[in-house]
Amino acid sequence: MQRTLVLIKPDAVQRGLAGRLISRLERRGLKMVALKMLQTDRALAHRLYAIHEGKPFFEGLVDYICSGPILAAVFEARSAVEVVRRTMGETDPAQASPGTIRGDLALDIGRNLVHGSDSVENAQMEIGLFFTEDEILDYPRESDRWISG
Ligand code: RTP
Ligand code: MG
Repeated sequence: MQRTLVLIKPDAVQRGLAGRLISRLERRGLKMVALKMLQTDRALAHRLYAIHEGKPFFEGLVDYICSGPILAAVFEARSAVEVVRRTMGETDPAQASPGTIRGDLALDIGRNLVHGSDSVENAQMEIGLFFTEDEILDYPRESDRWISG
């Protein structure tokens, strides 16, 4: 089963949207297997966003993700990476379709509420930044047979 890292970013927590965003992913049918609240320090932000180092928005991005508490979660589904990305919508909320998280609830690329891993390989790396293996739970979910056939 595929796993992906979801971050509910500081703007979402400050706006009181954290629970609703987790709920949207749950309602989609994704299985939550790990969840914690934390505040990212700069070292962790640099590791998470290493790929963007040197880009003009990098410092602002690090400031933003460290600016307040976040939720980190691991969600599981057959195509978890793609399903989460499509549920979030385009990176720039101005381009995101209505019906997506960003298309419904955000306006600005610098305050786009959520993060979702962009590949299975990056998901594995990013999950390892936020969770130890024993913090990720393996449990049966009774609704699974009504979600996947
Ligand atoms: P994320 O990593 O947060 O899920 O978003 P993403 O894959 O859709 O976007 P990515 O290209 O990885 O960029 C990471 C985050 O950097 C901020 N960003 N700002 N000002 C800009 O031009 C700009 N470009 C990217 C966004 O917060 C984006 O989510
Ligand atoms: Mg990304």
